[in-house]
This record gives sequence, structure tokens and C-alpha cells, in this order.
Amino acid sequence: MNKRESKKKYVSSKWIKTLALIKNTDLITYIPETRKVNFESLDEMLNKHHVVYVKPSRGSLGKGVMRIKKTNENEEEIYEWQQDLEVKQYSSYNALYNDLNHQIQKTKRLHIVQKGIDMVKYKDRSADIRVMVQQNTNSEWEVTGIIARLSHPKKVVTNISSGGIICNIETLINHLCPDDHNLIEKLKWIGLETAKQMNKTYPNMKESGLDIALDQNLHPWILEVNTKPSVIPFTRLEDKRIIDKIVRYGKAYGRHYYLKPKFDIKGNRIIKPKKRSRKGGKGITNILENTHPEKRQKAAKPFPRKYTRYRKRFPLKR
Ligand SMILES: Nc1ncnc2c1ncn2[C@@H]1O[C@H](COP(=O)(O)OP(=O)(O)O)[C@@H](O)[C@H]1O
Ligand SMILES: [Mg+2]
Repeated sequence: MNKRESKKKYVSSKWIKTLALIKNTDLITYIPETRKVNFESLDEMLNKHHVVYVKPSRGSLGKGVMRIKKTNENEEEIYEWQQDLEVKQYSSYNALYNDLNHQIQKTKRLHIVQKGIDMVKYKDRSADIRVMVQQNTNSEWEVTGIIARLSHPKKVVTNISSGGIICNIETLINHLCPDDHNLIEKLKWIGLETAKQMNKTYPNMKESGLDIALDQNLHPWILEVNTKPSVIPFTRLEDKRIIDKIVRYGKAYGRHYYLKPKFDIKGNRIIKPKKRSRKGGKGITNILENTHPEKRQKAAKPFPRKYTRYRKRFPLKR
């Protein structure tokens, strides 16, 4: 790895982060098999695991994350693909791959394929866990927050931006295994070991937010390591000492968090009401109120800088 790469505080590529993590032999049992997507790798992964997740290597908020299942019914192969609320079925691998490859090519991004974890459920929603690990003011690693996230009942991702909701970790663990007091300790150990491992490759990295799934045997699997994790889920916990500590530790190493929720519980982006335009137009909120959430999200984005610069040079005539 070159010098510039190792100085990084934040790494977005899930592929590169997986390569850094699998160097730790103690963590291997918690890392689901992950490969770059191509015709052969996807076929092999589907034959081996039957359920896989395909996702953009540089992605976030659960965007572009797909689940693919392979089943054999009456000796006939069926492939089921799901992204968001859209579900498609294919009767041949070639047909599935053609469609998928077309979609991947459009994004021009590397995609990875990962063993699908049959996650535990709570109230009909898939549940995974966010473990926040930070360097404290003595430069020691500390787990500062653990929280569970429950997916939208019909979706394959737990991200809050996709309609997921948060849940107290104690509530989830009490529901899954009331007598097992080791599970939280195991999650904490995985969090600490992961942060230390990432820090070996990236010495400037001061925090990690792990997405961990529990399978039906309550075995933990690290789905992703976020190097610049959002802390908004922790603001929703009743115990405010947790978020206070996270913010305090972050501040000490120069990180400032965005603390206002960006999405409501339905996954819609929360938009600040804007002033009415001078022409007496409807204003951005009114225009967006009755539109599809995806369109609303797009429209709510600020103008690209290029456009702003252009408008400065050529202001609109009023
Ligand atoms: N291998 C997997 N098995 C089961 N669920 C997964 C897997 N990978 C991702 N997911 C689900 O999709 C969500 C988003 O995937 P993730 O890898 O965290 O990408 P993002 O950066 O978009 O959050 C996860 O929180 C989890 O709910
Ligand atoms: Mg994630």
C-alpha cells in the first residue's frame, strides 16, 4: 500500500476494508465470504451459499444493495432478485446475470458479492447491530455504543434511510437469548478487535462503526465497517450519556458529528422548510410533499457547485 493510502482516516471501499480485515486470523470466523462480482464468482457464491448480497463497493445508506436467492423447485432452478421493494424472478443464471451486469455497468462502480446472512428477526423485521468503537482521550479503544436496527418488514436492508427503525440492544438480546450474557461481550470484543485491526493498516483511523448481523445460531457476522459512521441512531436513545460520550471522544480527535435526523421513520428525507420564492411560487417543501420519496430525495439535494458558480456569473434576471 502506498503512503498516501495508509494516511487515510476514512476509507469508503468495502472491498479494500475487507482485505484489511481478513489479515486478522482471529476475526476470520466473523467475516462472511466476500468476492468481486463477475460471471463466475456470483455463480460459485450462489451455489455455495444459496443466498448472497450484491452491493456497490463504495456505497452507503443501503443504496444499490441487492439480495439474490437461488432455489431448486422440482429440479428447476429459480433465482430471486430483490432491491428495495422490487422483486424479480429468473429461470436461468444467464438471464439473471445479464440483467444484473447491465445494472452494474450503468453505475460504473465495482460491486462485491457477499455470503447472505439469514438474520435474526424481531417483530417481523430483520435485525442487525451497529457497534460504535472509538479511541478515548487516553488513545485506548473503547466501545461507546451498541444499538439494534430493524429493517422495514418488506425490505432486505436495515438502514434507517431505507425505512429501518432503531431498537435498544437489550430489548433485542432479551428477546433472542435472555440467559446469554456473553453475546454483548462477544460483540464488544469483535468491535474492539476490528477497530484495532483497521488501525494497523490506517494509523490515523480513530473510530469504526460496525454493522454486525446475527444468524439463526446467533453467530455474529461483520457485514461492513464504516470508517465515518453516522451517530444519529444513538441520539434517539433515552440514555443521553451515550451520545454525549461519543461526541466528546469524537471532538477530541477532531470529528464533528451531524446530530439532527436526516430521515423520518418512513425513510423519507426530512427537509427544512424553505422560504417562499420571491415570485410567490410554492417553495421546495410544497412541491415535494406529494411526490415519490425517491424523487423527493433527489430534489432535496443542493445544487451542484458547478451550477452555483454558473449562477453567480450569470444571475437569473428578476
Ligand atoms: N451479507 C449480508 N447478509 C445479510 N444482510 C446484509 C448483507 N450485507 C448487507 N446486508 C443488509 O444490507 C444493509 C446495508 O449493507 P451494508 O453493507 O451495510 O452497506 P451500506 O454501506 O449501504 O450500509 C446491512 O445493514 C444489512 O441490513
Ligand atoms: Mg451499512
